[in-house]
Amino acid sequence: MKIAVLPGDGIGPEVTAQAVRVVRAVLGNRAFEMEEAPIGAAGVEAAGVPLPGPTRELAHKADAILFGSVGGPLDELADRSKRPGTALLTLRRELQLFANFRPAVLYPELIGASSLRPEIVKGLDLLVLRELNGDLYFGEPRGIHTDEKGERYGINTMRYSESEIARIAHVGFQTARKRRGKLCSVDKANVLETMHLWRDVVTGIGREYPDVELSHLFIDAAAMMLMRRPTSFDVIVTGNVFGDILSDAAAMLTGSIGMLPSASLGSSSKGLYEPVHGSAPDIAGQDIANPLAAILSAAMMLRYSFDLPEEAGRIEQAVRRVLAEGYRTADIDEPGARRVGTEAMADAVVAAIAH
Ligand code: IPM
Ligand code: MG
Repeated sequence: MKIAVLPGDGIGPEVTAQAVRVVRAVLGNRAFEMEEAPIGAAGVEAAGVPLPGPTRELAHKADAILFGSVGGPLDELADRSKRPGTALLTLRRELQLFANFRPAVLYPELIGASSLRPEIVKGLDLLVLRELNGDLYFGEPRGIHTDEKGERYGINTMRYSESEIARIAHVGFQTARKRRGKLCSVDKANVLETMHLWRDVVTGIGREYPDVELSHLFIDAAAMMLMRRPTSFDVIVTGNVFGDILSDAAAMLTGSIGMLPSASLGSSSKGLYEPVHGSAPDIAGQDIANPLAAILSAAMMLRYSFDLPEEAGRIEQAVRRVLAEGYRTADIDEPGARRVGTEAMADAVVAAIAH
């Protein structure tokens, strides 16, 4: 098995390094190969572009990609091809990783860290399934142009084909089936044609899954429901843009975005695994970032790309254990906790694995 390690920018390198350590701890001397390459602003620094040729090749030939995060000051560049985020979008699209799994699970120990009251978030365990290859992110035409009066205008196109909607819908129903059997499709069918088609296709496919309880919500109502009764959700399936927003909101309910892993999958076992948090340049290089999202992303990699559910489970168990033992990074700190930095948190996880 070959793992491409793409640490990226900001806190990406420090949390990814800890995830790599944990993977080594759990796999022991099993045959696997890890190769590292720069991406994002680090790619720009190394080779002048966010996705240098050798990084792209490595990503194509690896069985799985362990990704840190990309971003920073270059995010503001007018030239989109130079922005760090573009590298990630290119990989998602080129590798046809269309299904983005973003679980939001509340660990009982962290209930006090949630921005909502404990009685509202108690027992929270939902999954945002975000479509990743279409929508405003990739639709053409796009761009910033100037009209005949000399005024600039911007265009992006919300576009989904039936087959793109169908393939993510199938993943949604199949995933719900393995969980609590509830799928909520989120759209804006009352205003947007693209989303009208979305609802129509999802509804049609729903007939093939009579055992799954399908519901629909408009994005605004979904955002409200996520704040009001988040535990009513099991799987939420939605488009690229709405999924980007809802998954950050869902993440915050769990207390810290520093806890949440994600997996981007296509139709094979190949996947890209990344913490949901971004590059957080303000805290980079200080050994204070929470490495648990990166570590849990590595667990997802073992489960989905390498079919090693037992090893994945050992990592997840170890994370629960260190939380129960009171280890906390700054983002989830509370009075009386054992406050640790990035590396010490991973030390605790490695120790718990060996336990
Ligand atoms: C995410 C991020 C990316 C996105 C950025 C970095 C391009 O916000 O993975 O949610 O918008 O998809
Ligand atoms: Mg996002």
